[in-house]
Amino acid sequence: FSLFFAATVLAQAFALSPPADHPPVPWRPAGPNDVRAPCPMLNALANHGYLPHDGKDISEDHTVTALGKALNIDKKFALALFQNGISANPDKNATTFSLSDLTRHNVVEHDASLSRQDFYFGNDHTFNREVFEETRSYWKGSHIDVKSAAEARQARVKTSQAMNPTFEIPESILTSSYGESAFPIVVMGDKAAGTVQKTWVEYLFENERLPTEIGWSKATNEISYDDFTDMTKRIQEATEQAQNATAKACVVKHAGRHARH
Ligand code: HEM
Ligand code: MG
Repeated sequence: FSLFFAATVLAQAFALSPPADHPPVPWRPAGPNDVRAPCPMLNALANHGYLPHDGKDISEDHTVTALGKALNIDKKFALALFQNGISANPDKNATTFSLSDLTRHNVVEHDASLSRQDFYFGNDHTFNREVFEETRSYWKGSHIDVKSAAEARQARVKTSQAMNPTFEIPESILTSSYGESAFPIVVMGDKAAGTVQKTWVEYLFENERLPTEIGWSKATNEISYDDFTDMTKRIQEATEQAQNATAKACVVKHAGRHARH
């Protein structure tokens, strides 16, 4: 009897506490009643069940636990991100947000995304192959670094400026747009070197799934808000450099044309 009892207790202990790194449920894409965001990572975390699978009513607790368990993001950073999420809930007294709230244009969602169309063209929240192909074409080599991340960001802005008559990125969201290019490096890559394996990032965007099966594992050291703001600044500076380089090239081209007259 005691052996049976011990076996039952053990079985229950395993059922109640899955191994620490294991997602709470197997990965499963969104079903018809589930909502998703314009954010590849939040969608992945909902697909894995780190966040509520339906993508609705995400609390501070959900956010801190999910970002900590899945990605080793520290509490202060997770709380800052939660504030960003909740700012998109139209109910100003709300204590939760849903992934679909994040789609509201020019609240947190903005034009010139890396993998989504601009609001002007319709769906601004689901993965768009054509848009992502433009972004990817700037990620040369096996790793994305600060420079290629910035060049991709700058290229998407230029394309949107050219194609979308309503293009704008409000000042209030500009920094987060750089932050989105910093995210994969800081969260999934080597924050000191400023690089991340390209296949992991492509896998995240394309499958909305953590790239565990192709060799990624969560950071061994906690990721802080300062890590994120530092990388965001690096991306912003590199993007401004890319902008200046483009502007110079235009001036040279122009000067060349004048010289021929
Ligand atoms: C994009 C929210 C956490 C990676 C976005 C966008 C929103 C958002 C609203 C869409 C912006 C746009 O492109 O128009 C949030 C919130 C988070 C969170 C509220 C936490 C509570 C993360 C984390 C990562 C991440 C931890 C780590 C990899 C990205 C990336 C994009 C993005 C790479 C750019 C997608 C694109 O431009 O196509 N996020 N995010 N996010 N997020 Fe998140
Ligand atoms: Mg967008």
